Amino acid sequence: MGTSLTDTSDWQALQQHLDNAKTWQMRDLFARDPVRFDKFSAEAAGLFLDYSKNIVDEKTLSLLFALARDAQVEAKRDAMFAGKEINRTEHRAVLHTALRRPRGDKLLLDGKNVVADVHAVLDRIADFTDRVRSGAWRGFDNREITDIVNIGIGGSYLGPKMTCQALRPFAHPRLKSHFVSNVDGHDLDALLPQIDPATTLFIISSKTFSTSETMTNAQSARAWFLKSAPEAELPKHFVAVSTQLDLVTAFGIAPENMFPFWDWVGGRYSVWSAIGLSLALSIGIDNFKAFLAGAHAMDTHFQTAPLEKNLPAIMALTGIWNRNFFGSTSISIAPYHQDLAAFPGYLQQLEMESNGKRVQMDGAPVAVATCPVIWGDTGTNGQHAYFQMLHQGTDITPVDFIAALKPLHHLENHQVRLLANCFAQSEAFMRGKNADEVRADMTAQGLPEDEIARLIPHRTFPGNRPSNTILMDELTPSTLGALIALYEHKVFVQGAIWGINSFDQWGVELGKVLAKNIETELTGQPQAAQHDSSTNGLIARARAVL
Ligand code: F6P
Repeated sequence: MGTSLTDTSDWQALQQHLDNAKTWQMRDLFARDPVRFDKFSAEAAGLFLDYSKNIVDEKTLSLLFALARDAQVEAKRDAMFAGKEINRTEHRAVLHTALRRPRGDKLLLDGKNVVADVHAVLDRIADFTDRVRSGAWRGFDNREITDIVNIGIGGSYLGPKMTCQALRPFAHPRLKSHFVSNVDGHDLDALLPQIDPATTLFIISSKTFSTSETMTNAQSARAWFLKSAPEAELPKHFVAVSTQLDLVTAFGIAPENMFPFWDWVGGRYSVWSAIGLSLALSIGIDNFKAFLAGAHAMDTHFQTAPLEKNLPAIMALTGIWNRNFFGSTSISIAPYHQDLAAFPGYLQQLEMESNGKRVQMDGAPVAVATCPVIWGDTGTNGQHAYFQMLHQGTDITPVDFIAALKPLHHLENHQVRLLANCFAQSEAFMRGKNADEVRADMTAQGLPEDEIARLIPHRTFPGNRPSNTILMDELTPSTLGALIALYEHKVFVQGAIWGINSFDQWGVELGKVLAKNIETELTGQPQAAQHDSSTNGLIARARAVL
């Protein structure tokens, strides 16, 4: 078993430094250093990162960069990009970055150039999406496709849905995107009355093509379709994205209607593959390629920029500082952009399925806390819901603010108000409002002294609450690609430092197995001896009504 992270001299130096850092107030750090913003901000691939509103100074950062270097982050990063088998519990390379490499690049895996394979599939996606978008692809009664339904869950759903929403202004005007993920029949049931089988294209998206939720929804969609058209018409309305050709064929989808990808693409990293088919249909192949290029620009930055200027590394390290040293248990993601409404949910899978781990690569328990809870909602909506807790609650929750400076709408006044709110919130978290300031305000308002004294504790803001702000000029395919890749690599750096495998997800297995058993008991013979009284009681109550 390797050395525990907490025993390393880097960790201990940070621990000692913390004694000092705990006494700092960010408002004093800003007052003392007029160029703090310039010092603690960086830019790459169309994204600007302001991390100056973290409780850090130059020494904190140099200790954090040393931690990353001694944890071999750079060598581990290079191993990932080179296609080494870094997912050692599943014996797989981790090569989502190959999905965004330009045509003509070369990366050999088991003697095959995977970049050539990627572009061969991209060419098929280009051809298919062009035909659907232009109207050349027709449904069974010769009408154009109007509705695209992606059936998939987890990474086969969150990425397509989030990106289609985020790039709504780029969408084809005729094509409406829908997403069905939940095995709960209410999901598909709510959609079916809105669509016409003759003008709907279903994309069955599943890496394994055996995920129970997806296969259940796919079978139901197929049965619904076959009420309106004969089986021979299925190829015009059902395509698949998967790594499992046999299972796709067995479902009744012809190989020419299947878009493949590879086991070296993790589900939560798969939006760049054919799993992004619904996005490519919506925004067109050129925009889809711009999306890939934006991510590739972030990849190149991650690979080449020194850690001190490296956006993913900086976000990862300030995140570790907040999580492991200041003890924050969650991060709130606050996109000040309505089209990024699904981004916090997307990051939940990316971060929590990747780094929600409790043992190191070598099987030993991790000595420190790993992935924090990731949650959030759009600004300004969150301000009127849970920001109260972020400002004055007992927990300190770092916030990632994300905003595009220029809107893609033409409504007056909105954008200035939106950005003002975004910047005001991070300022308020950082500065707070102390008792003297609160007193001065209330005195100016002419409140009586006893009322002022009573209200001061309630109206005081402790401040010193960390945040990052990520800005882009506009939310475009390219900046969205860079933004997602930024978080992917942040997750990578944190996983590398914690010494965990960010690329498996064994934690989702147990529930799947138990659900299979319980499913048979709900309709067949109960196996009471297998369960506790609670589970037996719940099964019995359901059996009584099913
Ligand atoms: O939740 C577990 C998981 O394996 C995710 O990692 C994955 O994105 C999701 O299920 C869907 O898997 P598939 O694409 O194989 O249907």
